[in-house]
Amino acid sequence: MALMSSGRSFYITTPIFYVNDVPHIGHAYNEVACDVLARWHRQGGDDTWLLTGTDEHGQKILRTATAHDTSPKEWVDRLVESAWKPLLKTLNIANDDFIRTTDERHEEGVRIFLQRLYDAGYIYAGEFEALYCVGCEEFKPESEIVDGTGEFEGQKVCAIHSKPLELLSEKNYFFSMSQFAEPLLEYYAAHPDFIQPDSARNEVVSFVQSGLKDLSISRSSFDWGIKVPWDESHVVYVWFDALLNYVTAVGYDADPDEFARRWPAALHMVGKDILRFHAVIWPAMLMAAGLPIPEKVFGHGWLLVGGEKMSKSKATGIAPSQITDVFGTDAFRYYFMRAITLGSDGSFSWEDIHARYHAELANGLGNLGSRVIAMVQKYFDGQVPVDALDSVTEPEQALADLEQRVTREADAAIERIAPHEAIAVIWELVDALNGYVTEQEPWALAKAGDTGRLARVLSTLTHGVATLAVLLAPVMPGSMQTLWAAIGGKGPVQDQDVRTAFAVASAGPVHTIPPLFPRVDDDAVPATPVPQA
Ligand code: MSP
Repeated sequence: MALMSSGRSFYITTPIFYVNDVPHIGHAYNEVACDVLARWHRQGGDDTWLLTGTDEHGQKILRTATAHDTSPKEWVDRLVESAWKPLLKTLNIANDDFIRTTDERHEEGVRIFLQRLYDAGYIYAGEFEALYCVGCEEFKPESEIVDGTGEFEGQKVCAIHSKPLELLSEKNYFFSMSQFAEPLLEYYAAHPDFIQPDSARNEVVSFVQSGLKDLSISRSSFDWGIKVPWDESHVVYVWFDALLNYVTAVGYDADPDEFARRWPAALHMVGKDILRFHAVIWPAMLMAAGLPIPEKVFGHGWLLVGGEKMSKSKATGIAPSQITDVFGTDAFRYYFMRAITLGSDGSFSWEDIHARYHAELANGLGNLGSRVIAMVQKYFDGQVPVDALDSVTEPEQALADLEQRVTREADAAIERIAPHEAIAVIWELVDALNGYVTEQEPWALAKAGDTGRLARVLSTLTHGVATLAVLLAPVMPGSMQTLWAAIGGKGPVQDQDVRTAFAVASAGPVHTIPPLFPRVDDDAVPATPVPQA
């Protein structure tokens, strides 16, 4: 079935990543989650737009560049090209745009936005002294300031980074965010789905209920940033600058038609550590500017390795390519979407991905595909004879019903932003098809010369495998295209409407392919790193 645009706009964003370092699997996790959701919506005919990019200003990046004896611009240009854009290739991300906060389109949009807030009276100059975490790029709220231990005994440290906070005292410009506490609470109450999951929403609501302070939105002690239009001795606070990427990338303020088409975004997917910026500061900024607020902000959990939050600077740091080199891109995408509940923390271990790779991908799905193809080759020379089919019996009807239910429930799970549930329900079909092969024993039908029944069984199986290829294409685009073509599907699998996957057209001639998920030897799999004491 050819795709027709439903007209429904689905604009989804990843956070823009700090380019002070190279990507790790925590960043990759977010990219993959967004790409799977975007591919699903695109394959369902929605007017989909996936945005990702890089956050390039601020003190953290300036310091890293200086430590590497280079200018910040040279540093970010180098990292974007050598590390961040290649990450998208490694993961097979089909993003529609890539925004850098050093793009002129972005800088211009930020200046316009800021000037409008200033003209409307939401920005004022003031003196300020507070504890700043360069890791977070944030003046910390009381709740995230803790007493240091060990080498930082006697100092105040950041609850997230466990590093000492810096006391900054500057003249800054402020955004009068405090006046938005009430409007935000009203907004949350009227839009209970705005912040997800529920646990995250409750946290944000109680944070705002305890009152909001005005937000310092400029810095004057360094100059790596966008200059404040009316006072060039200040640069825009990096978070204020960064959040605006979501609108500057879709035409604010240069392309009103594109902006009207995409905005408000359907979903900002962010890690839970940066949810507050997206669920409090960002909607307050939009309210002040009179712009619509995104439909949803979803805070996913952290990837843990050896029980601690994965971060590149620690011993447990893992680069995405370490995993894709062993298991391939699609297995990477599958594993993180299947094994971890989006919205909760989840542990990565090499042992776990290895076990799931063999049980679910190689033996479950891959084996099903190759057996069905091999039998159609062997018994019918590659093409099930459609004019010689026996009629449908109860097991075939049950599979047809299952295909419908799985398609419907997987789509509903994606709507709930629960890709792990979508994959779990699709796997009911994988298991049912494998069970059907065992029960129907096509080899026995062949031996008994029961051609009509054999044709019915193999046609049921090819249809089931084609349905699987369509449903799993958003998760494993490369291997599902291979499977789709091998089972006789025409054209790109991503042109098949995922929401009617159960009604996929009957497949044409099959052809043999090498194993989709070849065995991985034990000695190719590293041991999971353990945190250093
Ligand atoms: N630049 C800001 C975001 C600005 S968006 C307007 C930023 N960048 S970041 O590179 O530090 O982090 C980007 C994302 O990576 C965050 O959503 C963060 O939660 C995520 N992760 C970093 N480590 C992670 C894990 N170990 N696990 C899962 N995600 C984590 O913050």
